[in-house]
Amino acid sequence: LDKAKPKNRIALIGFMGSGKSTAGKLLAKKLDYQFIDLDKSIEKGEGKGIPEIFNNFGESYFRNLEYRYLSELKDKNRIVLATGGGIVESQYCFDMLKDYFFNIFLCGNPEDFFRRTENSSRPLRKGSNFFINLYRKRKDKYLMLSDLILNSSIYTPEEISDIIYYEF
Ligand code: S3P
Repeated sequence: LDKAKPKNRIALIGFMGSGKSTAGKLLAKKLDYQFIDLDKSIEKGEGKGIPEIFNNFGESYFRNLEYRYLSELKDKNRIVLATGGGIVESQYCFDMLKDYFFNIFLCGNPEDFFRRTENSSRPLRKGSNFFINLYRKRKDKYLMLSDLILNSSIYTPEEISDIIYYEF
C-alpha cells in the first residue's frame, strides 16, 4: 500500500465479474465519496448500451470512448470509480489511471468471474476459454497499475470495501 499516493480519486480495476461496481458503491458510501461507474457514464452519455456500441462501432471505438470519459474525471475529487475490465487495453487509459488515480486491483479466480457474469450481456464474455485467456493476458497490466490488490474470490464486496476503508 502506497501511503504517499493521494487517495482522493480511487479507481477499482480488474476483470469482468470481479465486483468493481458492487464494492465501489459500498466504498463510496463509507468514504462519503461520489460513486461513478465508467460503463454507465458512457452508456448514458452516448445514449446506447455497451453491446450496441461494440456491435455498431467496434471495440476500438469503445476504447476511445473510455478514454474520453475517463479524461473528464481527472480533475475531480472524492470519487470512487468503477472502471470497465478492458480499461488496461489502451495505453492512454493506463497512463491516465497511473498518473491521476489510486488504483485498487480486485484479483481472483477467472472461473469465479465467468460464473458471476453468466446472465449478463457483455460483448467480450464469449466462451470460458476465451474469457480465462483474456484475464491471463490482462493480469500483468492490472498488476503494474495497482497501488493495492485484494482478492475478490476470497473476500465479499462488503469485506473489500471495509478493508479499503480501514486501510485508509
Ligand atoms: C469489458 C468489460 C466491461 C465493459 C465492456 C468491455 C472488457 O466492463 O467495459 O463490456 O473488455 O473487459 P465490466 O468489467 O464492468 O464488466
